[in-house]
Amino acid sequence: MWRLFSLLILGGALVAPAGFAADAARGGTLYAPCAACHGAQAQGNPALQAPVLAGQDAGYLARQLRHFRAGIRGAADGDTAGATMRAQLAPLPDDAAIDDVAAWLASLPAPRAAAVEGAVLRTGSNYYQSKCGACHGARAEGNPALFAPRLAGLDADYLARQYRNFAAGLRGTEPADRYGRQMRLMATALPGEAELRDVLGFIAAQSQQE
Ligand code: HEC
Ligand code: HEC
Repeated sequence: MWRLFSLLILGGALVAPAGFAADAARGGTLYAPCAACHGAQAQGNPALQAPVLAGQDAGYLARQLRHFRAGIRGAADGDTAGATMRAQLAPLPDDAAIDDVAAWLASLPAPRAAAVEGAVLRTGSNYYQSKCGACHGARAEGNPALFAPRLAGLDADYLARQYRNFAAGLRGTEPADRYGRQMRLMATALPGEAELRDVLGFIAAQSQQE
C-alpha cells in the first residue's frame, strides 16, 4: 500500500512540471493572427475594444482563454465584445497552445495607459485602496497569489466595461468561474459612475509612474 502511495506521489511529481513548461517562443508565433486586433506588441487597440495583453499574468491570461473557449466568458447575451473574442480561438487548438501564447504575452513589457479626463485622483486613490487594492495590489500591479490580474496599463474604457459586465452579470456568474464570481461581488463596491471614473484615473496614473 505504502509502495503504491509513494509511486503515485513520485509519478505526479514527475508528470506535473512537464505540464507547466510553456514554450514562449512558440507562443509568439501562435500570436501572429491575434495582432490584427490586440496590436503587434499586444499593446491593445481601444478602437476595436481589444485590451492590452502585454505584461499580464500568464495564469490569468490562460484562464481567460479557457473560459472563452468553454463559454464561461463571452457567451452571455449582450456581451458583444466578449462574443467577438470568443470567435477568435481557432489559432489556439489546445491547452498547450493557450499556455504558450500566455507565457509569451506575460514576457512583454506592459504599456502605459492614457490619463482619464476629469478623474479626481485623490478620491480615486481612496476608493481604490479601500475597495480594490487588497486583491489587485497597491499600485494595480496585480497579485497572482490571489488570482487578481494587473489593471495598471489597461485602457480605462476596457476596464470600465469589464467592471460593468461583472455588475450586470455578463461576466462572473457561471458556477465554474470561481475567480470571476469573487470579482462580481466587488463590482458593486463603488457608489457610482463618478467614483468609477476616479478609480480608473488612479489606476491609469500608476502605469504612468512606472
Ligand atoms: C477580432 C478582434 C480580435 C482578435 C483577432 C483577437 N481578439 Fe482577443 N479580444 C478581443 C476583444 C474585443 C476582447 C475584449 C473582450 C471583452 O470585452 O470581454 C478580447 C479579449 C481578450 C482577452 C481577455 C483579456 C483580459 O484582460 O481579460 C485575451 C486573453 C485575448 N483577447 C487573447 C487573444 C488571443 C491570444 C488572440 C489570438 C488567438 C486574440 N485575443 C485575438 C478581440 C480580438
Ligand atoms: C476579493 C478580491 C478582489 C477585489 C477586492 C477586487 N477584485 Fe477585481 N478581480 C479579482 C479577480 C480574482 C479578478 C479575475 C477574475 C477572473 O479570473 O475572471 C478580477 C478582475 C477584475 C477586472 C477585469 C480585468 C480584465 O483584464 O479583464 C477588473 C476591471 C477589476 N477586477 C476591477 C476591480 C475594481 C475596480 C475593484 C475595486 C472596486 C476590484 N476589482 C476589486 C479580484 C478582486
